[in-house]
This record gives sequence, C-alpha cells and structure tokens, in this order.
Amino acid sequence: MSEWVEVCGEDELPVGGWKTVELDDAEVLVVRLEDGFHAVEDVCTHDGGCLAGGDIEGREVVCPRHGARFDLLTGEATAPPAYEPVHVFPVKVEGGRVYVRDDRWG
Ligand code: FES
Repeated sequence: MSEWVEVCGEDELPVGGWKTVELDDAEVLVVRLEDGFHAVEDVCTHDGGCLAGGDIEGREVVCPRHGARFDLLTGEATAPPAYEPVHVFPVKVEGGRVYVRDDRWG
C-alpha cells in the first residue's frame, strides 16, 4: 500500500478549485467541493484527455475535450461520450494539509 502524498494546504484551494498531483504512475485531479476534497484519476475514459481544467458543475467535472461528465465522489461517468468510470482515490485532511493515496494495488 502506498504512502499518503501531500497535495497542498487546505486553504490553498477555494471551493470549485482544483490541482493535479502525480501519484506513482497516475496523474490525479484533486477538487474542492462544498463538502470537502475529492480526487479522481486525471484521465478521461473516453479518449484519454485530461479532466483538469474542465468545468466543475455541482459534484461533476466536465471533460474539456468532448464534454463527458464524471461524478467526483463515485467516479461514475454520468454523461457520454464516456461510459467507464474514472478511479476515485482516497483523500484526507490532516493538520490543515490535503493528502491523497494510491489504493489501486491494495
Ligand atoms: S476525451 Fe473526454 S470526452 Fe472525449
């Protein structure tokens, strides 16, 4: 199991703000919503585009390339042209810092 990796300070991201971080071999998109921080793999399952920079609407991110939508809490693809989910990574906030962890390999 991999270690927690620091993303940023809690105060550095406003609600609706985002940041990417490299985690092992994955690019991870961390987004702050009203209810806290969420992290998904930054690779659209439609055609591999980055989700970073896409609009955040409610709890969804909109892929900037062709408009697929993903639920940031579940990873589910909620609008075509993507149908497969993106991976959701665990996030924690500790001591005012935000951390993510790669849980893909157990
Ligand atoms: S690459 Fe994301 S919708 Fe096509």
